[in-house]
Parts: sequence; structure tokens; C-alpha cells
Amino acid sequence: MTTVIAIDGPAGSGKSTIARELARRVGVPHVDTGAFYRALTLAVLRAGADPADQASVLDVLARTNVCRADDRTLLDGHDVSDEIRSGEVTASVSAVARHPQVRARLVEWQRAAIGDHGAVVEGRDAATVIVPDATLKVWLTAPPAVRATRRAAQQGNADAAVIEQVVTQLIARDQADRGNTFRARDAIEIDTADLTIADVVDRVVAHLPADD
Ligand code: DC
Repeated sequence: MTTVIAIDGPAGSGKSTIARELARRVGVPHVDTGAFYRALTLAVLRAGADPADQASVLDVLARTNVCRADDRTLLDGHDVSDEIRSGEVTASVSAVARHPQVRARLVEWQRAAIGDHGAVVEGRDAATVIVPDATLKVWLTAPPAVRATRRAAQQGNADAAVIEQVVTQLIARDQADRGNTFRARDAIEIDTADLTIADVVDRVVAHLPADD
């Protein structure tokens, strides 16, 4: 039996944490599709190419390989899981992810990361583009202030002033990614604001078809 679960939602909605835990629970790989865009962005920055120029990004893409192994992200065989979370990569990744031809190529890599028994595919267009035939589609939400508080806590500083700054960043990020962020019509929606990670995972698992 193949189980493919698509998890989409805005930045800070809890996608990565939930997707990782869910993948562990179901026993399938966690396909973090944002990590592919981040790794390519790292390669673009290292090459000194312009993230906003599709031809330059495609040029870097043609000599680059990104794959996932054991929940790590490999760029040309090297583990870049930590480096792709840097402020520099985060600031440029939306520009890279905006190019249609880049997206078409990365979708192939993302689909190739799905295992024989399925995957938890996490992103912005997982349910609508990457795995439209997913067993289950989930749209995660949370109010901007909640998402910002989590992000600030992850970064080690949840002061009120920092949270306010992160709210502004998240709203700008949602705006930048708007063109590629879709809620599938047949997705179940979960507001994660007042739920623990285990609660959300339990709810998703409860929606899986009985035979899975
Ligand atoms: O989820 P994340 O923050 O790691 O995503 C990194 C960037 O990639 C973000 O700007 C949104 C974009 N992205 C996308 O356009 N499509 C996806 N399926 C996943 C991420």
C-alpha cells in the first residue's frame, strides 16, 4: 500500500515539524520540497549568479544535483541541511522559486524523492502540482502572530520586539510566495494555533483511509 500525504501551508504554519513527525509515524520519507529550492538557491549564490534571472538560475541548475537522504538535503553529494537555513538563502529563495522552468525541473526531483511506500510531501504546491493524486491532502494554517512566535522561538529570541519584526517578515514572505502557494479544494484544513505537534499528527492520521 502506498501512502502519499501532501502538507501545504504558509511559512511558520508548522509544516516541517508536522511533516517530519508524520513521516516517522507512517514510516515513509519526508520530502521537504522547500529544501530543494533552498539548496538550488545556495548553489546559485555560490556561483555568483543572479537569483532573479531565470536563464542564470537554469544554467546553475543544469550542473547541479539535489537529493534528500535520511531527512538530510544533499547538494552535489554534500550535506547542506544547515547551510540552506541561513538568512542569505532565505532572503533569495523566493526569487529562485518564482521561475516556471526552474519549478518544472524541481518538481521532477521532488517526485523522485517519494519512496516505494509513499511519502509525506511538504511544500506550497504539494497537493495541487507535485502529488495531485495524494492519498490525503492537508492545509495547515495559524494566525501570523502565532507563526511568528514559533519562528522567533526557533531562532532563540522570542522578545515582543523580535516577534513583531518576524510578523512583518512572514507577511512579506507569504506575499513573495503567493503565486506558488495553493490550497487544494479537497484538502482538510487544520489550524495549528492551539494544538500540540502530537495533536496535529493524530488528526492527520485519523483522516487516512482505513487500509493505509
Ligand atoms: O518551506 P520553506 O521555507 O523551506 O520554502 C523555501 C522557499 O521555497 C519559500 O520561498 C517557498 C518556496 N517553495 C515553493 O515555492 N514551492 C514549494 N513546493 C516549496 C517551497
